[in-house]
Amino acid sequence: MSPSPITIVVPKGRVLKPLAALLARAGVPAEILLADDRALIRTVDSTLRFLLLKPDDVPTYVEYGACDLGVCGRDVLVERGAELYQPIDLGIGKCRMVVAGPVGKEAPRDLPRVATKYPRTAAAHFARKGVQAEIVYVQGSVELAPVTGLADLIVDLVETGATLVKNGLAEREIVAKVSSVLVANRASYKLRREELASIVDRIRRAVDEAAA
Ligand code: PRP
Repeated sequence: MSPSPITIVVPKGRVLKPLAALLARAGVPAEILLADDRALIRTVDSTLRFLLLKPDDVPTYVEYGACDLGVCGRDVLVERGAELYQPIDLGIGKCRMVVAGPVGKEAPRDLPRVATKYPRTAAAHFARKGVQAEIVYVQGSVELAPVTGLADLIVDLVETGATLVKNGLAEREIVAKVSSVLVANRASYKLRREELASIVDRIRRAVDEAAA
């Protein structure tokens, strides 16, 4: 019986393009990731395939061994408290997680209400500062929350800052720096060590070359 293909889960969205370029530099054929196609399984050949997922689901697939390798943002890993083998920071998908609020309007010192899709990370950030905050979970378009009075502040990702500016918000504090990470399923990494180490080493070299 031929071995199953190495399966790499990757997040849909804006990281796909730089990720495909990085994989190509590492000699991993990944053009198929950029095909305008609704297929969620992208098979390269009998040895390699990709699964396209919502970023938040990547750690679940890696943790449960539904794939061998995965790419996801450090924001998602931290929020999930995922204990995954994290071999490489890919140096793409760079952004920051920040606290932001309406320009010219201070948030209440007591129990500010904070909208976010990162409730654990946000709660831990305010707890570290000794501020009790009421965390309100939202799934997206987080910047709407202060504009509509749903919350005083938000904790969200900022890349260019354009979304904050367009919605009358300004950055107040940095919570964490974020970038994409290559993670591995621990069992796969042991069982298929040779095959995976070859891919991981090539990706590591491509990352190092890009950083040099
Ligand atoms: C992300 C993030 C911000 C925006 C920041 O949202 O949550 O809203 O990008 O990018 P910028 O600083 O370059 O403007 P995304 O576009 O992924 O959609 P979402 O709001 O549905 O999460």
